[in-house]
Amino acid sequence: MERMLSGIKPTGRLHLGNYIGAISQFVKYQDEYEMYIFIANQHAITVPTDPKALRQNTKDLIALYLAAGLDPEKCTLFLQSDVDAHVKLGWVFTCLTYMGELQRMTQYKDKTAKGETGITDGLFTYPCLMAADILLYDADYVPVGQDQKQHVELTRHLAERFNNRYSETFVVPQPLETKVGKKIFSLQDPTKKMSKSETDTKGTIDLLDDPAVARKKIMSAVTDSVGIIQYDPESQPGLANLLTIQSVLANEPIEDIVKRYEGKGYGELKKEIGQTVFDFLTDLQAKYKKIIESNVIDQILEEGAKKASYVANKKIRKVYKKIGFTITK
Ligand code: TYM
Repeated sequence: MERMLSGIKPTGRLHLGNYIGAISQFVKYQDEYEMYIFIANQHAITVPTDPKALRQNTKDLIALYLAAGLDPEKCTLFLQSDVDAHVKLGWVFTCLTYMGELQRMTQYKDKTAKGETGITDGLFTYPCLMAADILLYDADYVPVGQDQKQHVELTRHLAERFNNRYSETFVVPQPLETKVGKKIFSLQDPTKKMSKSETDTKGTIDLLDDPAVARKKIMSAVTDSVGIIQYDPESQPGLANLLTIQSVLANEPIEDIVKRYEGKGYGELKKEIGQTVFDFLTDLQAKYKKIIESNVIDQILEEGAKKASYVANKKIRKVYKKIGFTITK
């Protein structure tokens, strides 16, 4: 069985983009692949993080993974910080990556272009840790949204570089983007991606938003003055974004939705999408609440850490030997 791995940072609240671009993919593929899904808490501290919030976000994230349908019987769910091998291999890749490569990473470039100060060394070298996350498990596929594709490309280069320098060690993974929804956009500015760090909360639907508030956000989503319902991301990006959301959540091809709305107005379409989002969140949050109130999380993470550590520790020993470290214990 081929392996698949992915992770999400427990920073801020998860939104519909994370669900559509990532979580829904994990759930879809867990029957077909040997699946490893983790919580990237070591990536979360690349920006200043309040410990209490990090604890809460971590718990919310695992509960949302489970509420969305990830099954711990089929998929190994774990915390990155529970498996030491991630930082160990991360350091090896830090020493194998050129600064120029990291300077070309879009997320870093965007932050420097905006003139952000206080960018940490961790934020700069973060893609090296991400490469370690993936390569430790010999993942064949990495399901991610569009914004993470560049990091997976670097991971591929690093796997090849290590294999060439020290002999065949790592599987070279492939990024896997969903066909519909690899980039969900802000509801208020459909040229920008929906993002955890967006300050305009009307543009983002959080998975833990009050469903009635989420419905209002859909109703007030920015569209255009063309007035025709069709899928044209170039000239009608807001509408295309709404159609994508409806298509994924209601599992209906975009063409079919467009056909149903021939000759109708945006208001009617928004009403249906608002209801779809309302129902989706209501159901997800009922499941989330049950999980949070139960005490299943600790046990799932403990089991997951054991399984993941077994695979990852074997790999790091192999790597250490190849690079010439003497293993004394
Ligand atoms: P993170 O936490 O920013 O995002 C988690 C996942 O959600 C996807 N995503 C989106 N997809 C569609 N539309 C959007 N608007 C949108 N916003 C976010 C992201 O592409 C991602 O798949 N570096 C990663 C976490 C990570 C990781 C890994 C992922 C660490 N190690 C190893 C895969 C494999 C990150 O910050 O994702």
